[in-house]
Amino acid sequence: MSLTIGQALRQAGRQLTAHSHSPRLDGELLLAHCLGVNRSHLHAWPEKTLDAAQQHYLEHLLARRRRGEPLAYLLGEQEFWSLKLRVTPDVLVPRPETEILVETALELLDKGSPRNVADLGTGSGAIALALASERPELNIFASDRSAAALAVARDNRRRLKLDNVRLLLGHWLCPFGPRSLELIAANPPYVAADDPELEASVLRHEPRQALIADGNGLAELLAIAHQARDTLRAGGWLVLEHGARQGQAMRQLLTTLGYRDCTSRRDLAGLERVSLARWPG
Ligand SMILES: C[S@@+](CC[C@H](N)C(=O)[O-])C[C@H]1O[C@@H](n2cnc3c(N)ncnc32)[C@H](O)[C@@H]1O
Repeated sequence: MSLTIGQALRQAGRQLTAHSHSPRLDGELLLAHCLGVNRSHLHAWPEKTLDAAQQHYLEHLLARRRRGEPLAYLLGEQEFWSLKLRVTPDVLVPRPETEILVETALELLDKGSPRNVADLGTGSGAIALALASERPELNIFASDRSAAALAVARDNRRRLKLDNVRLLLGHWLCPFGPRSLELIAANPPYVAADDPELEASVLRHEPRQALIADGNGLAELLAIAHQARDTLRAGGWLVLEHGARQGQAMRQLLTTLGYRDCTSRRDLAGLERVSLARWPG
């Protein structure tokens, strides 16, 4: 029996109730994706019927969503900093809290002057492309050790036509020369493997190497802070996203390594999410 749009929406909402924080919205987005229309079309044409292929595709996506797969992977895209980014299971789904990192970096970079900036562990390219969309005069380098992730970032760069981003393959700061950067931004893996707040579905579907770090989640943050001392120009900034309970450890670590002006930025819930520090010069 063919379903109408209205029936399909109700069915999707019911099926997702136990599996999503926003079952109705997820159902609307998945159905709109299957039909190749936007959400307003669904409400304008509730009596229209789905054909067999559309119905089958919707059932397939609903089953994947019920198994905990992120909506962004099912839709193949995620909005970040008002940019529509393509995402695949090779990259972390960009999170809203990472926009705090972008805001912080933009505040630190003088307008108008060409600067060399790196986004380490770029994944989908979210941070680098957000910076590039705001500041075309910047020379932005986006690096990752995952070639598969860089392929997604490359595709996003092409779609968004943000040509001032160069992509580099390599371990943290290895692709960069000494004293070559004015600002380094990174959202590295910072979740401890035994973190009780890490949802099993996140680990099941998103790349482990994008999420988990040794040393209580601090090992990769520490590695970057270590290496950045040789790569930052005098007076350059290091801006790192970290876990909600890692702010104090980060400030201490950065101070011990010789950085100055170490502070942290909070999200709307008051949790420290980003720490920044200047390499003295
Ligand atoms: C938390 S994800 C961040 C992705 C993206 N920047 C974002 O904010 O959505 C971390 C990224 O770091 C990369 N990564 C992990 N270890 C790395 C290393 N040693 N060197 C370079 N990149 C690394 C992963 O492949 C992943 O893309």
